[in-house]
Amino acid sequence: MTKPREIKIAPSILSADFANFGAEIRAVEAEGADWVHVDVMDNHFVPNLTFGPQLCRAIRPHISTVMDVHLMIAPVDASLEAFAQAGADIITAHYEAGPHIHRTLQAIRSLGKKSGLALNPGTPAAVAADLLDMVDVVCVMTVNPGFGGQKFIHSQLDKIRTLRRMIGDRPVLVEIDGGVTAETAPLVAAAGADVLVAGSAVFSGGSVENPRVYGQNMRAIRAAAAA
Ligand code: DX5
Ligand code: ZN
Repeated sequence: MTKPREIKIAPSILSADFANFGAEIRAVEAEGADWVHVDVMDNHFVPNLTFGPQLCRAIRPHISTVMDVHLMIAPVDASLEAFAQAGADIITAHYEAGPHIHRTLQAIRSLGKKSGLALNPGTPAAVAADLLDMVDVVCVMTVNPGFGGQKFIHSQLDKIRTLRRMIGDRPVLVEIDGGVTAETAPLVAAAGADVLVAGSAVFSGGSVENPRVYGQNMRAIRAAAAA
């Protein structure tokens, strides 16, 4: 029997207290987060504006797990070095963010970082075929990027299964981003997910004064995914 995949939870700090990132990150890590997911938005590629490399650099010392930077920006290439220098471990760029995703992924690897390829819900799995040897993570967007707290798009489950088949035995993780809750976690886990990004489902109900709720929320997602 093959060993069941170990599911990783990556809380998105998009749902954290923006006035208190350091403490929020330390709290979710103490409560069991595997990675910290950082959603960078430019108000151009997506209709929302969050933060840039300076914020990433400022929070880096508070992260002892993995800093997973999701770039929802276009153009992306000119900013890669800044995010690399800010301390990202993984830099994920969108297939849809420009005409030269192959070059972008090469550039991320040549900066010494792990590379991620994100696909919007409207983008088919097939576009990843010639890129799978140059990525460490494929990020399947299960909402349209731009905001936390949106509803999971069920049609993406097929795409997750297809990507898992396409990846085969390559060392590529499948990350799911958007609408992950204890209700949707079992579906994506069964379809082949390795990493679950969750914003609202991790941070809701908790605070840095009451971080145990973060732990309860993550355990609920993890248990549901394992079931
Ligand atoms: C959406 C972001 C997600 C988002 C997930 O554009 O990429 O990481 O924060 O938030 P929830 O888990 O609330 O859907
Ligand atoms: Zn994200």
